[in-house]
Amino acid sequence: MHIAIINGPNLGNIGSREPKYYGTQSFDDFYKQLEHEFANIDIELSYFQSHCEGALITKLHELRAENVDGVVFNAGAYSHTSIALRDAISSIEIPCVEVHISNVYAREEFRHKSTIAGVCLGSIAGFGLESYRLACDALIKHIEKKN
Ligand code: DQA
Repeated sequence: MHIAIINGPNLGNIGSREPKYYGTQSFDDFYKQLEHEFANIDIELSYFQSHCEGALITKLHELRAENVDGVVFNAGAYSHTSIALRDAISSIEIPCVEVHISNVYAREEFRHKSTIAGVCLGSIAGFGLESYRLACDALIKHIEKKN
């Protein structure tokens, strides 16, 4: 099974960016741990980050061509605005879980709306980097149930 984790804009410097929302652990550190844990249960992880909406859309289409089983997606600020990303997620027909590190519902009102949630399997927000692990677990259970 192959799960792809995708991070959108401003998510390359987690660990130093606004630690009160995003914590102090770097994403690279966290990802290394996660990759190791999942390798032990035979799950392949891959990771991609871009600040650009178009690059994220291209990546989603590439994942379809690669027959990836599931996507864990933190689209950052694009989560609140991007119809193009919503269309890309629904067009690839790969189960996708929306992730946020911070509890977006406890922050500014413009973060309470998600343009992508409606085409995702579900959304996980507010558990720090642990949100990604929870999303992977949920996705794996969903995929196993389907097969
Ligand atoms: C975020 C929340 C978004 O509102 C924000 O724009 C981000 C990060 C999160 O992970 O909590 O860039 O997606």
